[in-house]
Amino acid sequence: MRVVVSVGGSVLAPDLDPDRVAAYAAALDEAVEAGHEIGVVVGGGPVAREYIEAARELDTTEVELDRLGIGVTHLNARLLRAALDAPSARTDGYEASVEAMAAGRIPVMGGVAPGQTTDAVAAALAEDARADLLLFATSVDGVYDVDPTADGEAVRFDELTPGELVDVVAPMSRSAGASAPVDLLAAKLVERAGLRALVVDGTDPETVRRAIVDGEFDGTEVR
Ligand code: UTP
Repeated sequence: MRVVVSVGGSVLAPDLDPDRVAAYAAALDEAVEAGHEIGVVVGGGPVAREYIEAARELDTTEVELDRLGIGVTHLNARLLRAALDAPSARTDGYEASVEAMAAGRIPVMGGVAPGQTTDAVAAALAEDARADLLLFATSVDGVYDVDPTADGEAVRFDELTPGELVDVVAPMSRSAGASAPVDLLAAKLVERAGLRALVVDGTDPETVRRAIVDGEFDGTEVR
């Protein structure tokens, strides 16, 4: 199976813990050993947010803030690559990443362009690579009707069509401070390409290994 994994920075590097990064790399290595082709896109997490918040006080542009965020995603991508046993590839582009996957290497991408997040990068890579699965490893265990961290009555969707995913995350992406588990552009790319996607809690990297290798997951399935 060809799989693109979007690893949220908040699950890979909520703080700088080499054991957590090593455990993530081991889960991805096991997926490769089991015969899967894996591409990874890594987010920026809390460190990116700290940089962005600090720079926002400095009267810079939103695009410049995005560039800072992108820089941190690349740091996290480099950290994960350092921990992988499987041959990896540092690529800034989709085509080189698809080629690396086809050659049995794990491309580890970060952000590519201002105005989006790494969720959208992962969705575009999944479409370009004709991936069988796009796995969003986030800090929530699926897609809810409203933000579950803000509303105890939030209900999780076990299954959504791509069109329903767009409808659910669109209002979340508009309200400031609310965090959609998958950003709107990513949802639209999933819809356009008809991708199969899973949203799971990636805090424990075993969740990622199990979803890819055993086909078992607890989260939201988009198909
Ligand atoms: P993330 O993808 O980590 O954002 O990119 P996020 O989803 O808010 O955070 P986590 O990791 O899931 O918790 C961090 C920041 O980098 C910029 C954006 O500013 C984003 O908020 N970025 C990232 C881009 O501008 N373009 C990209 O392609 C990727």
